[in-house]
Amino acid sequence: MKRAVAMKEEELIKLAEQINDSSLREKVVEIITNPKLTFLEMPNSTNLSKSPASKRRHHSYESGLLVHTYSTTKVALALSGIVEEVYGVKVNKDVVIAAGLLHDLFKFATYNKIYPGKYNRSKLGEMLDHLSLITGELYARRFPIEVIHAVASHHGDASPIEPRTIEALILHIADNADAEINDKVFWAAKDIIRECFGIEIQTLPKEVSPFKVVLAKKEGGCEEVRRQFSGMF
Ligand SMILES: [Fe+2]
Ligand SMILES: [Fe+2]
Repeated sequence: MKRAVAMKEEELIKLAEQINDSSLREKVVEIITNPKLTFLEMPNSTNLSKSPASKRRHHSYESGLLVHTYSTTKVALALSGIVEEVYGVKVNKDVVIAAGLLHDLFKFATYNKIYPGKYNRSKLGEMLDHLSLITGELYARRFPIEVIHAVASHHGDASPIEPRTIEALILHIADNADAEINDKVFWAAKDIIRECFGIEIQTLPKEVSPFKVVLAKKEGGCEEVRRQFSGMF
């Protein structure tokens, strides 16, 4: 298995640098570098670099939000290329990259860390969801409407508006695909740990990739899992 990309904000900035439109590129880099809300007080919460992408499900571990953001944007870009090639539809990749990088950005403001691997809602998260927060902020920062639409509709039918552009639809599908891959492998890893160590875990320490747990089981059964991961839970 290849080494995973060590996830830092810089990886997101590198993707943002692929945006051709200089004004959009600058806005995206600025909000990732300085993810502050313009009209709301920032709560005492997790931060962008340490936040999980969900409390209990996909990417629910430290820095999971960066991993999910990076991966979703890459999936969306790959899908854009396929849609262009196979269906002959022009996809605005600037919009896809910008919306991919920003779609869940303020999730971090909706979580508090209780202890490693255990999160609850922040005071702000009790009042507003991540989708409302980022949509409002993009409006305040005068992002193009196409980017705001793709971000606002990334939950598909469960969004305030359904995806109505090809870029928005691609982002919605990429977001689901990445969440689902991570979620399924995470639950498989939890099952393997229960079977091999006889313990129930809520989350994995950030050093333990669920993908590597599954691979170890496949390669050498519980013996290999215990050899690689003993003492880590
Ligand atoms: Fe989301
Ligand atoms: Fe997402």
